[in-house]
Amino acid sequence: MKSIAVALMLVASPHLAAAQTTADPSLTPEQLAGRNLFAQHCVVCHVKTLVTAVRTYGPALSRNTLGGLDEVMAAFIATGTSNMPGFKYSLAPGEIGAIVAYLKTVPAEPPAAAARQPSQH
Ligand code: HEC
Repeated sequence: MKSIAVALMLVASPHLAAAQTTADPSLTPEQLAGRNLFAQHCVVCHVKTLVTAVRTYGPALSRNTLGGLDEVMAAFIATGTSNMPGFKYSLAPGEIGAIVAYLKTVPAEPPAAAARQPSQH
């Protein structure tokens, strides 16, 4: 099961920074923990992991998401919406904080790449 997930991550689009799995020495321990939690709980909806996928269910996330406001991001993740589950019962506040810390390291997708995406295979 684990190897399937790894294989999926390897075919991830290179321009989606949130999908990067290579060890990044510039990340703090909190950001690394957040990246692991993101990979477990969020990638399924927020990152295009299959080249055959036309789009993701949720929007691409970056440091600019929700105005780049940490508290707004944390509240959104905790509460969820009618389309996204809330994580306040499954993740501790510190874990949600770590995910936000990680997201703040993800650069916004360049508009050109975003515009190109729908026509990609
Ligand atoms: C079941 C699919 C799903 C999962 C799992 C999921 N999300 Fe979402 N997420 C969505 C959808 C869909 C939206 C768009 C909001 C809406 O339609 O209500 C969204 C929106 C967001 C937004 C706001 C984006 C914006 O630009 O407004 C953030 C931040 C976010 N998600 C973070 C996360 C994090 C962090 C996790 C993991 C802890 C996560 N999501 C897990 C589906 C998901």
